[in-house]
This record gives sequence, C-alpha cells and structure tokens, in this order.
Amino acid sequence: MAPTKESLESLKHAPGVEGMVHHILHRWSPRAYADKDVPVEDLKKGFEAARWAASSFNEQPWRFLVGRRGDATYQKIFDSLVPFNQSWAKSAPVLILSVARKHFAHNGEVNLHSWHDTGAAMANFGVQITALGLHSHSMAGFDHAKAQAAFHIPDDFETVAVTAVGYLGDPESLPEGPRKSEVAPRQRKDLKEIVFSEWDKPAF
Ligand SMILES: Cc1cc2nc3c(=O)[nH]c(=O)nc-3n(C[C@H](O)[C@H](O)[C@H](O)COP(=O)(O)O)c2cc1C
Repeated sequence: MAPTKESLESLKHAPGVEGMVHHILHRWSPRAYADKDVPVEDLKKGFEAARWAASSFNEQPWRFLVGRRGDATYQKIFDSLVPFNQSWAKSAPVLILSVARKHFAHNGEVNLHSWHDTGAAMANFGVQITALGLHSHSMAGFDHAKAQAAFHIPDDFETVAVTAVGYLGDPESLPEGPRKSEVAPRQRKDLKEIVFSEWDKPAF
C-alpha cells in the first residue's frame, strides 16, 4: 500500500534525541515533489539562513542561481542535470545552482575551504526550509561545464551542486528506481564509526 505523506515523513525522520533541533532530525531528501509553488518569502528565508553560515576568513564564497519552474534559469539548471536526476527533479518547482569562489578576495590566495563553506551554507538552507514545511534535495549529478557556460559564470567561480526545493509529493509519481529509495528508511553510520579520540578509536 502506498504510504501517506504523514507516514512517509515519520519513516524518514531521524529518531528523536533529547535537546536536538528537530528540524535537523526532520530534514530528508525526497525525489517526489508536489505541484505547488514555493513562496518567494520562504525561499528568501532559506537564503538568509545560508548567508549566515560560517566561512573561512568570512569570505562567504557562495553564490546561488535560483530558477523557478517556467523560467529560463530553471531550464538551464535542469538541462545540466544527468538523466537520472532529470527523471525525478522535473517535479521540483525550484532548482538552485550553488557556486563557490575559488580565491580569497582579501589576498587572492586559493580558498581551500570554498566548497566546505558553500556546503555549510546549503546545509543551513536545508534546515531552514524544513522549518517552513518544505524539502530540498542536493545533487552532484550534473554537467559542471554546461552549467558554467550556460550562466557565463566567471573563471574564478566553480559550480558546486544543484538543489531541488519544493513540497513533498507522491512517491507513486516517481520512476521505479527512485520510488524504491523514496519509501525506504534512511541509513546512517553510528557515532562510533565517525567520532574518534585516536584514529579508529570511538570517542564515546
Ligand atoms: C553534495 C550532494 C550530492 C548529492 N548528489 C545526488 C545526486 O546526484 N542524485 C541524487 O539522487 N541524490 C543526490 N544526493 C542526495 C543523497 O543521496 C542524500 O542526501 C543521502 O542519501 C542521504 O539522504 P537524506 O538527505 O535523505 O538524509 C546528494 C547529496 C549531497 C549532499
């Protein structure tokens, strides 16, 4: 039987831990989106959260191109996606291309943390829009050169990821492959596997 939106949400939410921010626990990456526009004010709140992320030397290396279904920006971002991502992302009403500046403005040196900081900004974005009842799903599967050329992005910037945004849709609308993962529980490594006091020795 197809899950309801409520049962799918509760399957996907991470188990509650006392004192944790529940929008972190409730963020997950759907592939099916409802045919419903995202209010501009909510998108702006997502980008507010993104711009308040920490960054090395406060460089704020991130830039974002935001496309809404029907506009040229959306189409150019969509055209850069690999076919698998196109197969599901076509239901998302918003697509964002995140871009990182390669060099520091203050001294021209290579910013080795530009992708780290751009990812941190998008992580903030994801938690904020979860708080607004929306969902997002980032993608590495796109043609960087195609996206760079489509927007005439200058050489000192590089495309990092594409992120779909929208309201949760019906898993039944998805092709078979993505449909299976849409209704499967989420998996995570245990803290013991990732937090060490010495290499490979769990800290807790
Ligand atoms: C940088 C990045 C790239 C990703 N690339 C893709 C992608 O190309 N296609 C896709 O379907 N999912 C992609 N994902 C989604 C991940 O598979 C997903 O975040 C992961 O399975 C954990 O699931 P959750 O976000 O629901 O917790 C990507 C996620 C991130 C953060």
